[in-house]
Amino acid sequence: MMTTSTASGKIILFGEHAVVYGRPAIAVPVTQVRATATVTDAPAGSGCTLVAQDLGEAVRLADAGADHPLALVLRLALDAAGIAREPDWRVVLTSDIPIASGLGSGAAISAALVRAALTHAGQPAPPETVSRLVYRSEELFHGTPSGIDNTVIAYERPVWFVKGQPPESFAVGQPFTLAIADSGIPSPTKESVGDVRRAWEADPAGYEAIFSRIADVVHGARRAIRDGNLAAIGALMNVNQQRLEALGVSSAELEKLIEAARGAGALGAKLSGGGRGGNVIALVDEQNAAAVQAALLAAGAKRVILTQVGTAAIR
Ligand code: PMV
Repeated sequence: MMTTSTASGKIILFGEHAVVYGRPAIAVPVTQVRATATVTDAPAGSGCTLVAQDLGEAVRLADAGADHPLALVLRLALDAAGIAREPDWRVVLTSDIPIASGLGSGAAISAALVRAALTHAGQPAPPETVSRLVYRSEELFHGTPSGIDNTVIAYERPVWFVKGQPPESFAVGQPFTLAIADSGIPSPTKESVGDVRRAWEADPAGYEAIFSRIADVVHGARRAIRDGNLAAIGALMNVNQQRLEALGVSSAELEKLIEAARGAGALGAKLSGGGRGGNVIALVDEQNAAAVQAALLAAGAKRVILTQVGTAAIR
C-alpha cells in the first residue's frame, strides 16, 4: 500500500512580527509550490526509513536522534495515530518550496509528513490535528513561533490569524494576484524576531505603538480584501512596509526590489515574513504583471512566483 500527501507553501500578506505580540496577521497559501510525502509499506521487520530525497539523505527512524526535525515530526504523528511500535514503512519526502525564504518550506514538509503518516495508519488527518502537530515540531526548532505558518498550511486557505486563537477564514471580494520575489538572501527569521524582541524590551511603549499601528493596517486590509478594493490593498501594503522599516527588519536589498516593483506599476509592495532577506510581495494586475516580474528579476530577484489569492485551493 502507498499513501501520498502534499502541503502547499504560504506567504504572509500583512502583520508579520506584530503577530508575535498578539496582533492579527493575514496569510495565504501558495499552491504553486508543494511539499510531498509518500509512505510505502516495507518488508516486515525492516523498520521505518525516512528519505529526504532533495537532500540525498536517508535515516532509520530508530537511529535518528531527538534533534532530527523530520524524525521528531514522524514520531509525533505515530503517537497521535496510536502506533506504539515502529512500523515497517519507507517514507519519502520531496519539495519544490525554496527553503529559508518565508514560503514555509519546513512547516509544509512537516504537514505533508503528518498527513501521509496519519492517512497511511488509517486515521483521519483534519487540519486542526495537522496544525497542532506541526506547531509542536516548529516550537522545538524555532523558539516561539506565532503559529501562523502551520495554521495557513494545514488549513490551506486565506487566514486571519491571532496567536492562541482558532484561525478565521475571511471573504475575498475579488481574487487578486501577487508577485512573490525571492531576494536570494536567506531570511534569518529567528534572528530578526530576536532583534525585535530586544528592541521591544529596551523601548516597550515605542514598539507596542508600532505593533498597534501595524494592527490598524491589518484590520484595514481585511476590509479592503473583503471589498475587492485592490488600490486600497496596495496602499496598505506600502504602509505596512514603512512600519516594518520602523521595526528594523527591512534591508537595502529588499527595498530595491520593492521600489522596482512599484516603479513597474505594482499597486503596492512590501517584504513578507521575517525580513532582512527572504521574499518581497507585490500586488499586480493583468496589465502590469509581466512588467513587474521583469523589473523584479532585473533588480536582482532570484525568482518570481505569481500566485492568485481568493480562488479555490487545489489539493
Ligand atoms: O519568515 P516567515 O515567513 O516564516 O515568517 C515569520 C513571521 C514572524 O511574524 C516574523 C514570526 C512568527 O513566528 O510569526
